[in-house]
Amino acid sequence: MADYEHHSYDVIIIGAGGAGLRAAIEAKQRGLRVALICKSLLGKAHTVMAEGGVAAAMGNVYPEDNWQVHFRDTMRGGKMLNNWRMAQLHAQEAPDRVLELEEWGALFDRTKDGKITQRDFGGHRYARLAHVGDRTGLELIRTLQQKAVSMDIDVFMECKILRLLRDDNGAVSGAVGYWRPTGEFITFSAKAVILATGGVGKSWKYTSNSWEGTGDGHAIALWAGAELIDMECIQFHPTGMVWPLSVRGILVTEGVRGDGGVLRNSEGKRFMFDYVADMFRAETAESEEEADKWYDDHTAGRRPPELLPRDEVARSINTEVKAGRGSPHGGVFLDIASRRSAEFIRRRLPSMYHQFMELAGVDITATPMEVGPTCHYIMGGVRVEADTAATGIPGLFAAGEVAGGMHGSNRLGGNSLSDLIVFGRRAGMGAADYVEGRADAQTLDVAQVQSIIDESLEPYTRETGENPYDIQRDLQELMQSNVGIIRTGSELDEALVQLEALKVRVDNISVKGGRVYNPAWNLATDLPAMLTVSTCAALGAQARKESRGGHTREDFPKADPEFGKVNMVLSQPTGSGMNADVKLDPQPILTMPDELKALFEEAK
Ligand code: FUM
Repeated sequence: MADYEHHSYDVIIIGAGGAGLRAAIEAKQRGLRVALICKSLLGKAHTVMAEGGVAAAMGNVYPEDNWQVHFRDTMRGGKMLNNWRMAQLHAQEAPDRVLELEEWGALFDRTKDGKITQRDFGGHRYARLAHVGDRTGLELIRTLQQKAVSMDIDVFMECKILRLLRDDNGAVSGAVGYWRPTGEFITFSAKAVILATGGVGKSWKYTSNSWEGTGDGHAIALWAGAELIDMECIQFHPTGMVWPLSVRGILVTEGVRGDGGVLRNSEGKRFMFDYVADMFRAETAESEEEADKWYDDHTAGRRPPELLPRDEVARSINTEVKAGRGSPHGGVFLDIASRRSAEFIRRRLPSMYHQFMELAGVDITATPMEVGPTCHYIMGGVRVEADTAATGIPGLFAAGEVAGGMHGSNRLGGNSLSDLIVFGRRAGMGAADYVEGRADAQTLDVAQVQSIIDESLEPYTRETGENPYDIQRDLQELMQSNVGIIRTGSELDEALVQLEALKVRVDNISVKGGRVYNPAWNLATDLPAMLTVSTCAALGAQARKESRGGHTREDFPKADPEFGKVNMVLSQPTGSGMNADVKLDPQPILTMPDELKALFEEAK
């Protein structure tokens, strides 16, 4: 029987990026006992990779902007698969959440008359992204972290959660995990749990995600009985670094294109003009001259094609490279130097300037960058109720990237930071309302805890076996090649076969040494979640026989209106864990009310 320390709270929040921090602040403000648990160090989260800004229709640069236009842009960007109610709340509440950040100390860049300034991003009709140079996510985290720390919220850093606990009535009752530095186990009882664990990108080879992005929250929610939706919808951000190889995948902010950067192929051609889908033709410039004018007046001109939604741009780059018109290292050229002054670039894009200078020896004020798609974000996630962030499991809530629905099949850049603060707050409110209706403290089910601990220690019981790093590498290769930016039915079938083989290997991992600072064991405990989310992504991709947003099927290249009416819902009705069957059930999307539908008619 293992020893473990135990803690009891009203609400525990797993994940301490923007959504987790914002949820913690809200629940704490309601007078609850709150703990924030993060696998990494506080302040280190994928939130910082949303560099270029936070989307909010504040109308500071274009007074014509309003929540209705933001809502419409978001739904169109998501190819109408979005949960309309989430998209509505998001567009309506984002401006207040940004102003709240400012009140809490965030130092946004300014217009000449002192308002928060806003920059252009793909798919947004107006300049809408409040920003701090190209370090907006970092400033958001810094601000929320400072606020949370000032409120005496308990923080458990470097603490990995293995599984959720449920009580006899099926409600969530806590979680089991371990301290990464010591390997000692830790348990939490809680009346409510909020998942804010971010994404899944580490299952792909080229990704902007850091080591934490292993889909823990998606997996533990599914294993606990919650539903996931649309896991096939994965965003490949069009611009990651492609060279040197050691840094391949690191993000190059869309702010470069928002501030005037253009994409060219090896022939010097501004190729995006060749890839304008019918849906966006009316609002996209047809010539370089027209596109350039737009930067001076958005109400008169039409948008440059580089600012189409991310799915469109990423696919176009992919096509250019495949056609042999790529850059020397397998990307395309992103050029801001020939349009903007060195002073402008260093002021607006300081991190990009340093990133390329330090990592690639490239001066972006003089030379184009080489860029290509990188796995950045998952639109699919835990199925939640829009207003409260509640999942189908009583007491379990989810917000931010781990939650599905808000972004449909493709997220617009800048909508993630606003998602985090809008739905982080709503999850905190939802959990607080739920807790206030429950007088009883949760008790710890010792048998459940012991079986979770035993499962995690199995790699130590084998004298010989698989190396977890080999499995991780093979998984990343598989997901990159078979469940990547362009998919086919036969590759997806093969991926599902290979994923089962990888699960057998995970069950045969052997780890040597102790539990103190043992990264091999840490990875061994991440792999079941990585295999689970990868299986869900492949199953969804196999079932969705169409192309929509962040899901492109070479064998079904068009969007199919029938598939546009359904979410791919995944669950584990007959078991729990990496080896239990995952059931896929297409279910109708929420029906949009007529007054919102009318917004799309008005825009025609
Ligand atoms: O390109 C970027 O700065 C990323 C922003 C986002 O993912 O929202």
